[in-house]
Formats: sequence, structure tokens, C-alpha cells
Amino acid sequence: MESGRIEIPFEECNKQGWIFALANRLGHDMKTYARRYMKSKFVAQGKDFDYSYYQIASPSYSLDLVDEAELHEEGAKTDGISNDEAYWIGFFYKYFTLALSLSNEQAWEKIPFDRMRAFYAEYGAKSKDEAGAELSALLRRELTAAKPRVVLLATGGTIAGSASSADAVTGYRAGALGVDELLAAVPELKNVAEVRGETICAIDSKDMTDEIWLRLAACAGELLASDDVDGVVIAHGTDTLEETAYFLHLTVKSDKPLVLTGAMRPATALSADGPMNLLEAVRVAACKEAAGKGVLVVMDGEIHSARDVMKTRTLGVGAFSSPTFGCLGTVDAGAPVFYRTTARRHTTRSEFDAAALPRVDILYGYAGDDGTLVDTCVRAGAKGIVYAGMGNGSIPADAEKALAKAAAGGIAVVRASRTMSGAVVSAESSYESAGFIDADTLSPQKARVLLRFALGKTSDREELRRIFREY
Ligand code: SIN
Repeated sequence: MESGRIEIPFEECNKQGWIFALANRLGHDMKTYARRYMKSKFVAQGKDFDYSYYQIASPSYSLDLVDEAELHEEGAKTDGISNDEAYWIGFFYKYFTLALSLSNEQAWEKIPFDRMRAFYAEYGAKSKDEAGAELSALLRRELTAAKPRVVLLATGGTIAGSASSADAVTGYRAGALGVDELLAAVPELKNVAEVRGETICAIDSKDMTDEIWLRLAACAGELLASDDVDGVVIAHGTDTLEETAYFLHLTVKSDKPLVLTGAMRPATALSADGPMNLLEAVRVAACKEAAGKGVLVVMDGEIHSARDVMKTRTLGVGAFSSPTFGCLGTVDAGAPVFYRTTARRHTTRSEFDAAALPRVDILYGYAGDDGTLVDTCVRAGAKGIVYAGMGNGSIPADAEKALAKAAAGGIAVVRASRTMSGAVVSAESSYESAGFIDADTLSPQKARVLLRFALGKTSDREELRRIFREY
């Protein structure tokens, strides 16, 4: 081992620290990597491998002398990566950090290990200088390529909520934080997209109004029509998020991603869910696969269609689901993945425009309902009533009489269900002859949104039925 011994100063050993980082990052035995790397370096120079070099670099590891066969065997056991591959990957991480002026951390973040192995498969046969030059140019192009441009529209809600203590998840002020504070809380957004913010309003979403809906639809539509915007995210209170989402699903004429998100815990809470929801919503708004799928809702790692999603829990994260059909996809491990789409009409295929909409009320069915409230709705000027009936939209006899009278007087009556899941389909012949319309799989609150748009165009019962079949 003495012959051909080369001395390497400590600083030089230290410079090679990145190979240890590589090993650690991969969760593998650092010792094996160090041995391999150093041995390959020495062998390349026609020198014997001097283990004292390794001991200087990492004195905490005491090394037994191992032979080449043992190194290979150990390497194969620990990670299945060949010496060549480990050496090549290590070389290029170093090369890229220099050529692209990346820190080690940035290199790890931007050029994941799987990608390096794919590079090895494609370029490993070339000389390292040649492959290095080609790959550096490719990565430089990618890293400097313009990121998707996403606009965040803030409307208030718990996602922008502020409480007096970190353990308070109720009794907070919704919409207290400005849009810039929402963005500043998630610095990781800059890795995904260029995000800028605008404020539409700062309300508790229980107080959502038609005026805000119309303004929001106009603003989102205008932004999405611009060549400078690739997607829009709306931060919204969770209480009426599903209604706003469906309103926009029926009116915004764009195929570009429009995504709503919110939070169940205020921004000041321990384990606030808003920052991750916002990051995931931006990831979805920035991804090409989200285009043409209608308005989406991203909450708690799930991507839902605006048509199907509901808030199904009062408190706690995981409060959103699509009870009848399930979510469209997920944002697991940071990557949006879609599994299905909605077949019903929306956005660019919708026949509706945002405009002043008629009054439609919802009545909630209960045992013993005598229909008195139907008259209240009629007197209040409702042009339509959605009845959240039992089971398959069943209506108690007295309430049915009152609704049939209202329908005969020109009020559109839609039968929905209070069960929260499943379709309302044709049932009693008396419902048909009274001219009631089936809500299909729309919740009462979504049926109300659709009926308002529909009544803005027609009061013809068959046309209304067609609309409920198509949307
Ligand atoms: C709201 O809907 O504005 C308050 C509740 C929430 O955002 O979770």
C-alpha cells in the first residue's frame, strides 16, 4: 500500500464532502460511498488506494481494509447502485453546482436523484466533459424557463384568520390577513410559480353575496383571458366555498385552471392547514393537467370538482369530500395526479353568463312539515324553491300540496335530498304531474345555484329539466 501513495491535504478532503452528502441524502451507508469514491479516484490516477485519506476526511469512521470485491458486494447490498453510477452521479452533482451556480441544497432540490439516474442511463456512455456540457445547457434552459404565472385572489375566510392564541381554532377573526401576508407565509410558492395577489374582499364566507360572486367571476374571467396568466387560485372561507366554486364553474369561460382553497384552522393556529392547502392549490393551478376540468377545489391533498364537492364536517381538517363520486385526484407528494373528470357541462361549455339572478330559496324537509314555509318563500318573491326532501327527494303530503300550488303559480320547484349523497330521480307520478324537477346528484345548495342560472334564461319546465340533466 505504500507504493504510489499520494498525499491529499485536509482542505481537499473537505471539498469532497459532497460525496458524503450524497450518501446521507440517499439514506445509504456513507462509508461505502466514501470508499468507492476515493478508491475510484485513486485508481483513475494509477495509484493505490490509501485508506488514510479517508480516515483524515472522516476520522469518526475507523476503516478496515477492504478489497474491491468486498466493496462491490457491499454496494450492491446497500443500494444496488453500481460504482460507476455512484461516481458519475457524484461527479455531476458537483459539476452542476459549479456550472449552474447552484448550492448543494438547490442542486438536490432541482435535480432529484431519479433524474440523475435517468441522465446516467442516457449519457453515462459519453465522456463526463461532453455529457456535462450538454446536461448543463439543458438544465440551465430548464431552470431559467419562465415559471407558470398564477394569481391569488383573496376573499377572506379562516385561511386568512387570526386568533388570540395558537390553540384557538374557533372564535377567531376570519379574513384578518392581507393577500401579501398569505403569500409571504408560503415562501415555497416561488419554486412552483410566479404568484401575485389581489384582494376581492375580506369576509367570513357565510356573508357571501351575489355582488361579490359577480365581481369574482368577472375578475377571474378577465385574468384567465390574459396571456400573462396561466392559472388563478381563490382563497375562500370554507363555509360557502362549494357554492362559490359551482357558481364560477357555471360562468367563467376559460379552460385554464381555476382553483379554490381554504383552511379549517386560522393562520395563527398550531398546525395551520392554510399554507399547505395554498401551496397545493397553486401546484394544481400551475399544472397543465388541470386545464379543461372545470373549477377545482383543493383541500387537504385532494382535488375535487366544484360540482361534486361539499363541506361535510364542521371542524377539523379533512372537512371536504365529494360524497357521491369521490375526488378527481390528489396532490400527494407535491405532484397533482388526476384519476377522473366530470362529464357534466361547465366553464367553456356552459350556456350561462354571470348576470343578476332571480331569488331561489331552499326549504329543508322534516317529519311533520305542513308546507307553511312554502308560502313564505312565495310571498318573499322567490322564482324557484329547492326542497331538500327525505331520501330520494320525498316530500311530506302537506308540503307537497303547498309546493304543487306554488308550481301551478309559475314557481320552479326542484326536488333535492337532505341525505347529502346519491341522486334524486323520478319517483311519485304526482311529483311529475306537479311539474317538479329532479336535482339529480346536486346538493340542495348547488341545485339552488343552477336553478338561479337556469331561471335567468327560461321558465319552461322541460328546458329546466334538460338543464338539470346536462349540468
Ligand atoms: C368562513 O367560511 O369564512 C369561515 C370558516 C372557514 O373559512 O373555515
